Amino acid sequence: MSVRIKKKIRIKWKNLFILFAFTFLLIFGITEIIVCITKLASSPKTEEKEIKEKNKKVEKNEKEYTNEEDKKLEKLGYINKKIDYFNKEYLDRYIKYKEKNSNLSDLQIIKNVNMNLDQTKYKDTYKAEKLNTTKILVNKYYYLDENYVPNNLKKISNQYALDNMKMVDIAADAFEKMAKDAKKEGLNIVAMSTYRSYSYQVDLYNRYAKKDGKEAADTYSGRPGFSEHQTGLAVDVYNEKQDYTNFEKTKEFDWMQKHAYEYGFILRFPKDKEEETGYIYESWHYRYVGYDIAKYIKDNNISYEEYYATKIKDW
Ligand code: DAL
Ligand code: ZN
Repeated sequence: MSVRIKKKIRIKWKNLFILFAFTFLLIFGITEIIVCITKLASSPKTEEKEIKEKNKKVEKNEKEYTNEEDKKLEKLGYINKKIDYFNKEYLDRYIKYKEKNSNLSDLQIIKNVNMNLDQTKYKDTYKAEKLNTTKILVNKYYYLDENYVPNNLKKISNQYALDNMKMVDIAADAFEKMAKDAKKEGLNIVAMSTYRSYSYQVDLYNRYAKKDGKEAADTYSGRPGFSEHQTGLAVDVYNEKQDYTNFEKTKEFDWMQKHAYEYGFILRFPKDKEEETGYIYESWHYRYVGYDIAKYIKDNNISYEEYYATKIKDW
């Protein structure tokens, strides 16, 4: 009798286990199917929307030209039909720039003019757009007002920064994560200059100008209002052993060359992009732009100026 009861109980446990496993697999399977369907349903729509947007912009560039304008477009190989960052308002600037730079391709003409390379630095200037976003561009053409202070400034932990170094919170968090991961590999990335107010930049620039002369200072220091440090998204780093100007020779630099983009940072003033950025190569100055943009810029070896002129600015 007792053997039969035991057998019964054993069979029940087995059944219970099978039921449990079956229910688990069923729920897991259904969830996976729902996730797949949602993905399939949403991604083509997003892509479709993006393509439509792009076509709309290109279409806009194809229409509404007078005969005179059409002649100018012909000179530019009707490049307006091929790209969505063609700006009709720059038509005369494109033509003028092409006349002076006949060796450049039509595509390069558009890019360069969109980057304001036909303009005079610090003379032809515009208010910076996209304030308080990680897409802001500040350089020798785009400036910030004296009273611009970015929102959400946050102090970086003293473990990874000199005293009182602040960045916009999203950039500060990304920086701490990057410095922490580097530390795990025995590397020391320390923030030594981050957000700088307009008035701080006044003192700094004047000091440099007094020491080296204005012309030289302009090659490595932003004039007040024109420094990216005022955005709260830029950071100068060093490793505490070498002077920051020698950062290029450190292991920390090699590591950042490989990994900075993973945390959303770009080397803002690269060696071969002086004309576009307006500054000499600075191996120590990084800018937070977020992972996607940082990856694109690294993969395509372009400056932030080119990225802004072709991908961000709404023409
Ligand atoms: N050193 C960079 C260019 C700045 O002063 O903003
Ligand atoms: Zn800097």
